[in-house]
Amino acid sequence: MRTLEQSFPKKRVLITGASSGLGKALALEFAGRGWKVAVTDLDAARIKETADAVRAAGGEPLEMVLDVTRCEQFEAAAHRVTEAWQGLDVLVNNAGVADAGRMEDGLTLENWRLLVDVNLWSVIYGCRTFIPVLKKGGKGHIFNVASGAGLLCLPEMASYNATKAAVVAISATLKTELIVDNIDVTVCCASAFRSNIADNERIRQCSSVAGRGIMAKIKQTSITAESVARYSIRSMEKGRLFSLPQADAGVMWALSRWMPEKYRRLLTYLFNKRKWLFAPGT
Ligand SMILES: NC(=O)c1ccc[n+]([C@@H]2O[C@H](COP(=O)([O-])OP(=O)(O)OC[C@H]3O[C@@H](n4cnc5c(N)ncnc54)[C@H](O)[C@@H]3O)[C@@H](O)[C@H]2O)c1
Repeated sequence: MRTLEQSFPKKRVLITGASSGLGKALALEFAGRGWKVAVTDLDAARIKETADAVRAAGGEPLEMVLDVTRCEQFEAAAHRVTEAWQGLDVLVNNAGVADAGRMEDGLTLENWRLLVDVNLWSVIYGCRTFIPVLKKGGKGHIFNVASGAGLLCLPEMASYNATKAAVVAISATLKTELIVDNIDVTVCCASAFRSNIADNERIRQCSSVAGRGIMAKIKQTSITAESVARYSIRSMEKGRLFSLPQADAGVMWALSRWMPEKYRRLLTYLFNKRKWLFAPGT
């Protein structure tokens, strides 16, 4: 197994949504290994905070405001890293937002659009913009952050599941498509880890069983963004398509592939009995 540094001695990575949660943990993990890290997110002050932490951890930050719903901002970012670093080795499409609720009344159309924009269009823009940059350098790695939700189709999370399943599909497609270009692809399908994703008014007000259970789990789980970041890097080094840091998502996914009807019955049972991720306040 080659380390990322052996594969990419120039050590240049761009991360979206890098000033919180998994994005920040990945930025610091790369920094600790001496990488140049393009720290991108929405808010300049939080980007600066993360960039300072990247520098302190031994990395070389490049600060950039990048709203992932705006294709032209990806193009500007590509221009900037090309100018500053003459290319890029690893693209991390991490920025994401969550939502939960029943299809007919919980999930608003406005929020559907937000989820599709932030979770899906971002990955399309990121890949379309940066694949030519990686190709120019003769190699690269794309790390897309989807979710276990994209594999498991949990109830009352249609918008989140749909966007994350699409990210899994894009990643699997590109894995084969880009082999000839020496570009590898890994997709993160983590289940709940601690981050700020549930920390917004809409999720706090959310009355759905799944929403409340999963969001409570994100707040209380002992799984940290840092441990998911370390696992993510190992998955890239092993050349894996799927990176599943937690066993529960892996077991349920395997069951859903091999015995889809049994999986559906089990999921319905767990949901109706308020068990597993659906337990209130677990
Ligand atoms: N926390 C979990 O349990 C969990 C599980 C599986 C997958 N994920 C995925 O991990 C990724 C990171 O989420 P997190 O849990 O660390 O959450 P987080 O809220 O801590 O971090 C998400 C980051 O994305 C940024 N972001 C949001 N909208 C943006 C936009 N339009 N442009 C640029 N940046 C934007 C936010 O500012 C924030 O810094 C997401 O894609 C999420 O879906 C999270």
